[in-house]
Amino acid sequence: MSFRSVFIAIVIGFGLVLAGFLVNLYRPPAETGQPSAAFVRATGKCAECHAEQQHSIVHEYEMSVHAKKGVNCLDCHQAAEHQDKMDHHGFEITKSLTAANCRSCHDKEYQQYLRSRHAAPSWAAVYGEKSLTPEQVAFSEQFQPGGTKRPPHPLVGLEGQQASESGCASCHSVGKPNADGTLGTCTACHARHVSSVALARLPTTCAQCHMGPDHSQIEIYEESKHGVLFHAQEKLLNLAAEPKQLTTHDMFVPTCATCHMSGLNGLAVSHDPSDRLSYYLFAEITEKRPNYARAQAAMKDVCLQCHTKPQIDRVYDQAEKVVAETNDKVTTAKAIIEGLRKDGVLSEKKFETPIDFAYFDLWHYDGRTAKHGAFMGGADFVQWHANYPILERTIQMKATADEMRRQHAKPK
Ligand code: HEC
Ligand code: HEC
Ligand code: HEC
Ligand code: HEC
Ligand code: HEC
Ligand code: HEC
Ligand code: HEC
Ligand code: HEC
Repeated sequence: MSFRSVFIAIVIGFGLVLAGFLVNLYRPPAETGQPSAAFVRATGKCAECHAEQQHSIVHEYEMSVHAKKGVNCLDCHQAAEHQDKMDHHGFEITKSLTAANCRSCHDKEYQQYLRSRHAAPSWAAVYGEKSLTPEQVAFSEQFQPGGTKRPPHPLVGLEGQQASESGCASCHSVGKPNADGTLGTCTACHARHVSSVALARLPTTCAQCHMGPDHSQIEIYEESKHGVLFHAQEKLLNLAAEPKQLTTHDMFVPTCATCHMSGLNGLAVSHDPSDRLSYYLFAEITEKRPNYARAQAAMKDVCLQCHTKPQIDRVYDQAEKVVAETNDKVTTAKAIIEGLRKDGVLSEKKFETPIDFAYFDLWHYDGRTAKHGAFMGGADFVQWHANYPILERTIQMKATADEMRRQHAKPK
């Protein structure tokens, strides 16, 4: 062996040791606090077995920013506080991964998420207040009044346990309480192993849950100019841009995340998608949120990164009128149902007679769709999926109510 090659080998060897030291120096504190030999081994060791058996999973991880920054398998898979451990081929790993395993390094995002309706309220919307601890309810109520202090949804009892578990709970698990005391999972938007911001910014990510007749957000987006431009120009967007440096040069067409979460041109990034909402559009009768003015200004600030003020004021002016008109129409239909209940024609129990379903569909499908369509650029949804069926259902409800009253008045 020549002196030259020995010298090169020594230089490279020293370089590697130094690089290892430097990488370790800049690791988050949670990581350097661990026995480092295990960590150095960890990535190689876990992947050794799993790359063969589950190529996809390891490959997803290899494409991630985590892999590039030296966050390894065990960093996520080790047991966080209050989690059950299990022995696993010489390692101790957690039995179940939750937001707690991300929170250890990303507490800021977790705290923002915790204040949002994606957290406790989304679980309470299905299973009610009793499915959460009193502390979780008290915490959430400060930010989302009425979001958690409520009974379970009546459909849960009527449709059966498995229906609500595989249906409602799958989407609403974005805020499911975990045995370790944390809420939810961060992987709904980031996936488990690619952990990507680019993925979270895609409309299809939100559309896993934000779809269908009761919250047609993806359908509305697809028919809006924003959706059309997104598909035409997706390849030109810099979807992976770092959140703190995201500008309209990276994202000149908005996706769901841009309007509801991103910090465009220096605005604040938020893991609380309720932050920029001024109305409770999902409600039967829509009211302003307690933070109406601040929230609306925050959303308009996002629009104004790409638009002029008169254009945005026009959209809001029209949409707020749609909210008021829809409230009037729902109130009219509601009076028909309440009249029947007051006169004993209809029982107090919900979801027992066809007219009950007609009214539920009227506000829960048509009413919401009108309001969402008006704010997010879905003309077809304001009209043919909303106002037309509202008109039709109201007339049918009136006819049915008259008939029910006639039957009720007949001597039995
Ligand atoms: C010697 C091979 C081997 C090593 C090393 C290994 N695993 Fe596994 N792992 C397996 C096999 C095989 C399974 C399938 C279930 C079983 O037999 O435990 C599995 C299952 C798993 C599961 C699913 C467990 C469940 O109950 O759903 C996870 C998560 C996991 N491994 C993570 C890891 C992590 C993280 C590491 C490194 C810290 C690791 N594995 C190291 C072979 C290995
Ligand atoms: C960013 C955190 C993170 C990193 C890094 C990570 N995992 Fe995971 N892994 C998860 C989460 C979250 C789950 C889902 C666990 C659950 O649902 O209970 C998971 C699940 C798994 C599973 C079970 C998957 C299935 O579909 O059956 C295996 C196996 C696994 N991980 C192996 C690995 C290996 C090997 C590495 C390193 C190459 C790794 N993980 C790195 C977060 C991570
Ligand atoms: C051991 C610490 C650690 C853990 C645990 C961890 N991360 Fe990370 N994460 C990091 C580091 C470091 C970065 C790179 C940040 C940077 O460069 O500013 C990062 C970056 C990210 C990014 C930005 C990726 C991008 O495309 O730019 C996301 C999203 C993310 N993590 C999500 C998660 C999720 C979800 C979990 C849990 C399943 C998790 N992280 C667990 C340390 C961690
Ligand atoms: C795993 C399912 C799921 C995914 C994925 C998801 N959401 Fe949600 N989202 C929900 C549920 C459930 C609610 C209703 C929570 C409640 O009010 O009870 C909700 C509510 C919302 C709200 C209304 C909050 C409020 O205060 O009324 C916004 C805005 C929102 N999500 C935006 C997004 C965006 C943007 C994305 C994608 C980046 C996304 N969501 C991804 C399930 C999801
Ligand atoms: C496809 C995913 C999905 C399924 C399945 C689903 N939801 Fe939702 N749900 C959502 C999303 C997304 C929202 C947010 C809509 C909005 O804010 O406009 C929501 C909103 C709600 C709301 C209104 C928000 C609130 O906090 O009052 C209630 C109540 C609700 N869902 C209950 C249920 C029940 C009960 C079931 C099952 C019978 C169910 N959901 C099934 C995704 C889903
Ligand atoms: C509703 C979807 C959604 C959920 C749930 C979610 N994220 Fe994110 N996350 C995003 C989006 C979208 C971005 C990028 C925001 C932007 O465009 O700048 C992001 C960005 C991030 C980043 C990069 C932030 C930065 O400033 O560099 C981290 C880290 C992160 N998320 C961690 C988490 C953790 C931890 C959780 C669970 C507590 C979580 N996310 C849950 C959608 C989500
Ligand atoms: C151009 C910006 C923009 C885009 C893109 C956008 N939204 Fe919205 N979204 C809004 C505005 C504005 C509102 C109404 C805000 C208010 O209440 O003041 C809204 C309302 C909502 C609500 C209603 C919350 C409630 O009170 O019921 C949800 C949920 C939602 N958006 C989710 C999404 C999803 C999911 C996508 C992508 C498929 C999306 N948005 C795309 C601007 C946008
Ligand atoms: C990231 C940039 C961006 C953001 C943020 C954004 N838009 Fe847009 N929007 C566009 C682009 C680009 C077009 C197409 C403009 C053109 O063709 O001149 C557009 C088109 C529109 C149009 C259709 C104009 C037409 O008739 O063709 C409306 C309405 C609109 N936006 C409203 C909004 C509202 C309201 C908000 C905030 C809630 C918003 N936009 C946020 C980029 C954005």
